Amino acid sequence: MNKRPLLFAVDNLTYHYLPDKLVLESVTLDVYQGESLAILGANGSGKSTLLKLLSGLIFPIQGQITAFGHELTENALQDPVFLQPFRQKVGFVFQNSDAQLFSATVWDELAFAPLQSGLSPEETTYRVEDVAKLLGIEHLLERPPYRLSGGEKKKVALACVLSVNPEVLFLDEPTNGLDPRTQFWLVEFLMALKQAGKTIITATHDLSIVEDIAERAIVVNENHTLAADGPVLQILSDRKLLLDVNLIHERSHFHVGASRQHG
Ligand SMILES: Nc1ncnc2c1ncn2[C@@H]1O[C@H](COP(=O)(O)OP(=O)(O)OP(=O)(O)O)[C@@H](O)[C@H]1O
Ligand SMILES: [Mg+2]
Repeated sequence: MNKRPLLFAVDNLTYHYLPDKLVLESVTLDVYQGESLAILGANGSGKSTLLKLLSGLIFPIQGQITAFGHELTENALQDPVFLQPFRQKVGFVFQNSDAQLFSATVWDELAFAPLQSGLSPEETTYRVEDVAKLLGIEHLLERPPYRLSGGEKKKVALACVLSVNPEVLFLDEPTNGLDPRTQFWLVEFLMALKQAGKTIITATHDLSIVEDIAERAIVVNENHTLAADGPVLQILSDRKLLLDVNLIHERSHFHVGASRQHG
């Protein structure tokens, strides 16, 4: 029995964008506070869709999602009493950074969420400077986000989310497009957040980072149902499962323990 508070309960969830094409079917899943969970699956299996459902950007067609003890519905999220704290507790770093960067400068981008959450201009300035330092992006503060490189945008997107210090982080393919040093840095950073007790849910098919950033993994198969849910090392050791769900190729040499050593 898990003694940590239950943050998300997904019960028999089904979702489709187009009526005749399910993208998630009968998904049941619990996420407890402080867990680090990887959502694994091939392209198009439904990982990003599951993150969007958990963060209340879209809503189940069938089944239900409970978040922090409340059912996550369109109606519930129209109630400011639920919406405001929910948006502060949950941060989402999108697969495509361009989908979340829209301000004239990086500074404005980082200040947006703190100001929205009601912080004073002085507190906001402090937060912006603090989070920019944390991510090593002080030199980018005056730049327009759309002119940054992919990796720089990813850091800014992450900084935006961290600027309101959310309890839960949803990360969609966070290492995509990052060079090895930045990737290594990000994995270390996520390990530190995990140590600090954040709940981190990461969708990825980059198996090389999974054992560093997650203790538990779920696997979505190409039929859009859950193929597995368990300790990350157990899942990464199951070569037949990884082959079946198209996470490795039969000629792939992936094996557990292949991740880099982190200090
Ligand atoms: N807005 C949309 N309208 C219609 N279909 C969509 C939409 N968004 C996603 N899909 C489809 O839903 C399915 C699941 O997409 P999703 O983005 O969740 O997959 P994913 O597992 O995150 O894939 P990837 O590894 O490529 O990021 C795909 O077939 C995709 O084409
Ligand atoms: Mg995706």
